Amino acid sequence: MRILYAKDYEGMSFNAAKVLASVVINKPGCVLGLATGSSPIGMYKNLVKWCGDGILSFSKCRTVNLDEYVGLAPDHDMSYAYFMRDNLFGKIDIDMKNVNIPSGLAADGDAECARYDAVIESMGGVDIQLLGIGNNGHIGFNEPCDHFPLGTHKVTLTESTIEANKRFFASKDDVPRYAYTMGIGPIVRARKVLLIASGSGKAEILEKSLFGKVTPEVPASILQMIPDLVVCADEAALSLILEKHPEAVER
Ligand code: GLP
Repeated sequence: MRILYAKDYEGMSFNAAKVLASVVINKPGCVLGLATGSSPIGMYKNLVKWCGDGILSFSKCRTVNLDEYVGLAPDHDMSYAYFMRDNLFGKIDIDMKNVNIPSGLAADGDAECARYDAVIESMGGVDIQLLGIGNNGHIGFNEPCDHFPLGTHKVTLTESTIEANKRFFASKDDVPRYAYTMGIGPIVRARKVLLIASGSGKAEILEKSLFGKVTPEVPASILQMIPDLVVCADEAALSLILEKHPEAVER
């Protein structure tokens, strides 16, 4: 595991963008596992800029997103499909045929989950999986539970996640109660995993996930098992790690 220090959100975003860009440059036809949330927005801005400047191309990349809210259409402005178009896909040279996100409107949830696993399998897995981290340690929408679910599945969002994500919606009642999420399987099989975290609100869960007990009660703790894990975080998110394990952080 490498933990890369940055002073602030901009620095974290720059570090993370460099890690992802290096994978794309080394393997133009790579499979990118992508994430949503407020954490990756700055990183996506860097990638958009480098693509516009002609130093990075996504034209051969294939992508697979982590998750989607059940019940939201791709043109709903709170859907993750919309988020991805707005922050990345609509601004880079990616071929939209190569983009994959679970369908929030699928009539048959089980079939949608099976379809999504087959898509990931057919691509030969993920070259680099980007992850944010939820306040309760969720990755994608893999919420704390008594086992690590391996495949794509439908989850009931926890109260803590609904509370955290309500800031994006008009009201708490508008936050969907269910989501489809990639399971832990493709994440741990990814050739590289890039975890990003910013702000003091993530300090406790980041330390617990990376240095605490590996348990499905803290889904992100499984990342300790990943041989090539890169963590890009800012000083506020790293505050507890800097206090307890300063030697683990690269400045
Ligand atoms: C959501 C997403 C996660 C994301 C998490 C943290 O619940 N499903 O993929 O990592 O929020 O979001 P943020 O980066 O806004 O803190």
